Amino acid sequence: MRIDVITIFGEYLEPLRLSLVGRAIGDGLLDLAVHDLRDFTHDRHRTVDDAPYGGGPGMVMKPEPWGEALPSVLAAGDPDQPVRIVVPTPSGHLFTQATAGLWARDPRLVFACGRYEGIDARVATWAETLEAGGRPVVVDEVSIGDYVLNGAEAAVLVMVEAVARLIPGVIGNEASHADDSFAAGGMERLLEGPVYTRPPVWEGLAVPPVLMSGDHGAVARWRRDRAEERTRRMRPDLLG
Ligand code: 6GU
Repeated sequence: MRIDVITIFGEYLEPLRLSLVGRAIGDGLLDLAVHDLRDFTHDRHRTVDDAPYGGGPGMVMKPEPWGEALPSVLAAGDPDQPVRIVVPTPSGHLFTQATAGLWARDPRLVFACGRYEGIDARVATWAETLEAGGRPVVVDEVSIGDYVLNGAEAAVLVMVEAVARLIPGVIGNEASHADDSFAAGGMERLLEGPVYTRPPVWEGLAVPPVLMSGDHGAVARWRRDRAEERTRRMRPDLLG
């Protein structure tokens, strides 16, 4: 997969070079390119924002730098690959594990990071008229939750990590995310229950004996019960 990020704060994306995502890049499973939106301005101050029409506080990202940056970034990749442009915004659809699973099968994601009060709304509309890999570009406006961040960069860190770990080969043991909270395959509406390792007794607290019983069926039932109990307690909304 190739991921491009267009931002005015490229350093913000540096943590993606670490840890699991960094190793995926090193292994050639993921190609990450970060682009500076200001490289697509032409004035002395490299201006990317302006006052909102209709008044109000804050600044809006001007459309023109995006109008140059998006085609330039699209042209920098494989012309045969279709592209999904992701516009992170608190007013978007909610990004979930299902979204991550869907995007993990895409060949190419381009994240367009807004700051200030957002990007001029015409940019998302216009971006849908672009083509890549012989197909119209898909534009997804997404939010990572019901709170407001100063900009899209932190949300991009979250989404790229969630997507990258689902790319085949990125996590050593593919089975290890089958039981994760929100994973598909029977656990999609359940949180993960408690986990234990040695020693069998620590600070007077014992590991539940069923986990040491060797009875795989009993272990599976116990885990399911604990997952349901925890979901009822922490996230009753998931049980409907
Ligand atoms: Cl994607 N962006 C911003 N600025 N705030 C958010 C968000 C995104 N998701 C939740 N809050």
